[in-house]
Amino acid sequence: MNTADPFSPIEWRENSLWLLDQRLLPQRQKWNRYDDIDAVAAAIADLVVRGAPAIGITAAYGVVLGWRQSRQDPGFDLDAALGRLAGARPTAVNLAWAVDRQRAVLARGGDGEALLAEACRMHRQDIEGCLAMGDHGAGLIDAGSRVLTHCNAGALATGGYGTALGVIRSAWSQGRLSAVYASETRPWQQGLRLTAWELARDGIDVQVIVEGAASSLMRAGLDWVIVGADRVCANGDVVNKIGTSNLAILARHHGVRFLVAAPTSTLDPHTASGAEVPIETRDPAEILGDRYANEPRVRAWNPVFDVTEAALIDALVTEIGVVLQPDKDKIAAHLAGE
Ligand code: MRU
Repeated sequence: MNTADPFSPIEWRENSLWLLDQRLLPQRQKWNRYDDIDAVAAAIADLVVRGAPAIGITAAYGVVLGWRQSRQDPGFDLDAALGRLAGARPTAVNLAWAVDRQRAVLARGGDGEALLAEACRMHRQDIEGCLAMGDHGAGLIDAGSRVLTHCNAGALATGGYGTALGVIRSAWSQGRLSAVYASETRPWQQGLRLTAWELARDGIDVQVIVEGAASSLMRAGLDWVIVGADRVCANGDVVNKIGTSNLAILARHHGVRFLVAAPTSTLDPHTASGAEVPIETRDPAEILGDRYANEPRVRAWNPVFDVTEAALIDALVTEIGVVLQPDKDKIAAHLAGE
């Protein structure tokens, strides 16, 4: 197990939740303080914090704040606030999963202390899971490999260490990687702004590519595409940042292997396939900026996730192990610990 500094973008201190504002990276490192559950929901919707496991953990701490508000103000409707929190972003299954875990604490009669203990447990378990995933995933990667990652599935997107970047961190520390590439990830540039920042911070060399360069990179020489997931469906379909399915299709064409790293909290056995997953569509201004503010003929379509069919995935790595060529039966067996 690699026990590198488990830097986390989420902290609980001074009885408040603190989030590293990811909208400002890499230029500025600013921590925002939260004491209000609806402000936490807004931070998730506005991408102050993002990445499936990170928004789940953030929401778990947000419930602690909501419980406190409900004690201070008898008119405060905690249940409605939990609904708003769970709905802040629709695609990542970890958000509803985390709120449900806290609902279970409340149903058992748990108080603010019990909710905080559960949030801390989820945070710690996520980091431990990422470290384990790093080990499992790195074991698949031969010495001298060249890898490409998409979006940011690193410490910034998790409790710490990262899923896809956890695998890359572990493989790098074991001397298995000869080159790491990060795709820019339009339109929000998680690859350029967040992944490159994180890797450099860890002393890992990285080259950023525009998404349009992926096919050329694969032709020039690439061994693995390594990504995270917002949701893995019962049949193995993977929902992740827009552009992931493009990379999977290209990878199959070029004979490049495709690895998805995701904790079991991202596996959703209740959703049969990717066709059933709500795909978040965001503000066209993320693409257009203010360039066409006065030109109604120019609009933008901005879905921020896509579905990669299970058949295009060579390996699914979770904290409990590896599923090669994942499908419905193998995933069910994996979750059952078989
Ligand atoms: O819109 P984002 O930045 O929240 O999207 C994040 C991703 O798509 C990540 O790849 C995914 O959540 C996995 S994070 C470990």
